[in-house]
Amino acid sequence: MANEAIPNLTAFDEAALEKAFTALEAQARSDAASLEKEPFRLKWLGRKQGLLNEVSDQWLKAAPPEAKKSVGQRFKTLKELAEGLLEQASGAGPTDASLKAEAIDITLPGTQRLTGAEHPITRTMNEIVAVFAALGYSVGVGPEVETDFYNFECMNFPPGHPARDTQDTLVVANQERKPLRDRLLLRTHTSPVQMRTMEQQPPPVRIVIPGKVHRNDAADATHSPIFHQVEGLCVDTNITFSDLKGTLDHAMKALFGSSVKTRFFPSFFPFTEPSADVQISCIFCGGKGCRKCKDSGWIELLGCGMVDPAVFAFAAEKQPAYDAKKISGFAFGMGVERIAMMKYGISEIGSLFAGDMRFLGQFA
Ligand code: DAH
Repeated sequence: MANEAIPNLTAFDEAALEKAFTALEAQARSDAASLEKEPFRLKWLGRKQGLLNEVSDQWLKAAPPEAKKSVGQRFKTLKELAEGLLEQASGAGPTDASLKAEAIDITLPGTQRLTGAEHPITRTMNEIVAVFAALGYSVGVGPEVETDFYNFECMNFPPGHPARDTQDTLVVANQERKPLRDRLLLRTHTSPVQMRTMEQQPPPVRIVIPGKVHRNDAADATHSPIFHQVEGLCVDTNITFSDLKGTLDHAMKALFGSSVKTRFFPSFFPFTEPSADVQISCIFCGGKGCRKCKDSGWIELLGCGMVDPAVFAFAAEKQPAYDAKKISGFAFGMGVERIAMMKYGISEIGSLFAGDMRFLGQFA
């Protein structure tokens, strides 16, 4: 590549030198910005025709003896600048061809990104939690891999108790050498977090605990081996069954509409005494009887009861204030999928887990 020559220098006083070298430095910078690495190197540092060579040939040689030192120093600075610029040069600056290849057609429509939305289970869980948060409940969580002690024993399912059979689950392998209460399993309910909470704080307690649970249940239209629950616990002095009824009646109305009625049926859970199943008037037929409520007008929705003194006794080992003679409490547990299915008219529990965007998109 033929180089444009450097201008002729006629005067060698400081002002003339300053002007000439400043102009060259500016040119080196602009060349570095517009040229690719190799052409820049050739133009400035090329052995034969490089501009620096010419400066050295013409300006340095032509300088009168008294100006040689100044020209020499300025030459050195210019050379270092050119070498520095070469070092920084990208190596592959854009060329006309590469720019063309990268050009975009700004008239084409853009890529549409889908906005995320809450999964119906998360949404329902948040709605349930919000109802209780408004009543002054705090929110807690606990481990999904739980010990036999918390999942069963302290919830008053002693080893060998038949109620354990109703909550079969996956257990972690090779733990035979540990005492039964320390063995790990996937929790079958969120109730163990009742005990974890009480061990951490003395009464009063008002807490709801949303979370995932696991059971050895065959999947069908309404069962899934993995599902979600919201647990509730309220402990204080003088908590009665009517507090439980009032709280859950309010919660069901808040979730399903103010015309919903509730009724309580005797039931059994090891950790509550007495225990009850709560039914709500059928939200599909208003209680008249339909296919969904099997013509009964009622739908069973959750379990609850007064905390069994045996459960308080376990809590009292760490927090003596849980003295069943001085305090009382109620607890409840509800299935999130079941509530979501009723609220949104979902007939197959599996569609909540299939990850099909055509289904999930309806909740966005
Ligand atoms: N843990 C129970 C279950 O998974 C649900 C339940 C029932 C929780 C009654 C409670 C309760 O706290 O009082 O079947």
